[in-house]
Amino acid sequence: MAVRPVLQLGDPRLGQSSAAVAPDLLGTAQLAGLIDDLRDTMAARDGAGLAAPQIAVPLRVVIFGITSNPRYPDAPPIPETVLINPQWTPVGTETAEGWEGCLSVPGMRMPVLRASRVHLSALSPCGQTIDREVMGFEARIVQHECDHLNGVLLPDRLVSA
Ligand code: NI
Repeated sequence: MAVRPVLQLGDPRLGQSSAAVAPDLLGTAQLAGLIDDLRDTMAARDGAGLAAPQIAVPLRVVIFGITSNPRYPDAPPIPETVLINPQWTPVGTETAEGWEGCLSVPGMRMPVLRASRVHLSALSPCGQTIDREVMGFEARIVQHECDHLNGVLLPDRLVSA
């Protein structure tokens, strides 16, 4: 367990697509250690979410969750969630613009257009299927963190004025 450095905008590793977690890594101490590091690093930086490539691990693993967060004082609480190999598809056509921050893009908030409601499918760290709909701020976080797995950063999503 450790707080790891968070790669910053301009680091080429943030622009790379991450690899799927192989089935034989599910449920292992190695994967649990990575998740511990993501949790500790996110908490230390008051993040609402963090993707493994942000700590220089190019695997499709993300964590998110909000209890009370000084960086997002108005956000609704979201239970801690770990997603392995997540995928999402929009439900309906509604989109919403909202301000997002990112621990890899410090000191900036940007307006980003996201699907309002998405269908999420992923695995838990033990390999159980996660299959559900999410909406609102949680849907926004899922889309933001999945972007990291595809090497997409906030400035790539900036809504043009
Ligand atoms: Ni981010």
